[in-house]
Amino acid sequence: MAITAIIGGQWGDEGKGKIVDLLSKDVSVVARFQGGANAGHTVYVDDQKLVLHQIPSGILREECKCILGGGMVIDPIELVQELKEVSDMGFSLDNIYISNSAHITTPIHRLIDITNEEKSNNKIGTTGRGIGPTYVDKYNRNGIRAYDLLEKKKLIKKLDAQLKNTLDSQTLTQKQLDEIKNKIDEFLKCSDIISKYIQDTFVIMHTENNILIEGAQGTMLDIDHGTYPFVTSSNPSSGGITTGLGVPLNKVNRLVGIFKAYITRVGNGPFPTELEDEDGAKIQNIGKEFGATTGRPRRCGWFDAPLAKYSCKLNGLTDIVLTKLDILDNFNEIQICTKYECDGNISSNLSEFMNNLHRVKPIYKTFKGWMTSTNEIKEFDNLPIEAKEYIKYIEELIETPVSIISTGPKREDIIIR
Ligand code: GDP
Ligand code: IMO
Ligand code: MG
Repeated sequence: MAITAIIGGQWGDEGKGKIVDLLSKDVSVVARFQGGANAGHTVYVDDQKLVLHQIPSGILREECKCILGGGMVIDPIELVQELKEVSDMGFSLDNIYISNSAHITTPIHRLIDITNEEKSNNKIGTTGRGIGPTYVDKYNRNGIRAYDLLEKKKLIKKLDAQLKNTLDSQTLTQKQLDEIKNKIDEFLKCSDIISKYIQDTFVIMHTENNILIEGAQGTMLDIDHGTYPFVTSSNPSSGGITTGLGVPLNKVNRLVGIFKAYITRVGNGPFPTELEDEDGAKIQNIGKEFGATTGRPRRCGWFDAPLAKYSCKLNGLTDIVLTKLDILDNFNEIQICTKYECDGNISSNLSEFMNNLHRVKPIYKTFKGWMTSTNEIKEFDNLPIEAKEYIKYIEELIETPVSIISTGPKREDIIIR
């Protein structure tokens, strides 16, 4: 059995969708293990853009089975909309499998997510997709699982209990209550539609020989190893694979981390290399750095090597993909953060600063830019010398090889070493 996993190395939106789409040509299964409709993975079908939220990015390959794993939280209303988009683009829905143990996001979870954020003095800046509240119910052991969608009476009973719990802990306006009731009707209809995809996915994961695992979010958003509390509510790092899909640790042969050639973050929380100047605005503008799920502007900064090194170690990355190198084509000077400084302590080990990340000062090494387009280049050796130096320096700092370089949004904009 050969399993390759694709993991977001930074704060999400590294270009995982594009790389999963690329690598899925050689596999029979693509499986998601965590997260839900908070993800936005962009793929291209010729010139047409498709943003996937819950369906794995292997969906463009006719023969590929797409698994929505048990560690995910599934939103039936969003999923029905996504199924329609995929089908309207001409792709078959015959190969979609939802794990029967995945938890289900309801309209009540979404409402709680949004009202929690509104009330908070320390806003996370969530995607508002009900992710946190769904995982809260999971760990509180009163969640609704995909299994429950197959038994309507039980489902309605669980939904009533969930609504009662919510009303016991917060006051809803009549308008909110009416909206929820309408949404619950829609939820029940959509739950019915998706129920035919609910399966025992364990058997597939243990019989297929060539599997690609698709992470969502990114390592620094990991609930245990990220910038808590400014994180998501799952484990996007490789640790989440085994619980989220029911495959043992020793079955994953290759762990590929996806990193932008710079770094971005959507939502709140510490960001040592954030650029609040012209360079940041330029990256955001040229890189079209706006969220694929919420449309929010992404905060932008220089490549953070201590963060990347932490991510390599934590996930056990065998190699990495550097995406969006083409965005740096337009800079005279490029910086890489090599170390952090805080209270006189200088180090390249992020974990030493985890609780003080909002205070660290990045120490930079400056590189000369290459100021020429890399988009059409297909061989590493043909990259401008400055770009090669930039990539080699990153490899040295993070002690992990860069195996693939992405130079544009399309499948063919790629350099494989
Ligand atoms: P994901 O969540 O990790 O799948 O990433 P997103 O889809 O949210 O964001 C990545 C964005 O960058 C998308 O708009 C992609 O089409 C785009 N993209 C991916 N790789 C490249 C690249 O190498 N160059 C450029 N210019 N765009 C890229
Ligand atoms: P993909 O898979 C970038 C961020 C949110 C917020 C925090 C918590 O496209 O890389 P949540 O709704 O999960 O409770 O929000 O996590 N976030 C993402 N940022 N890419 C994502 O997914 C994200 N999914 C969640 O912005 O800061
Ligand atoms: Mg995204």
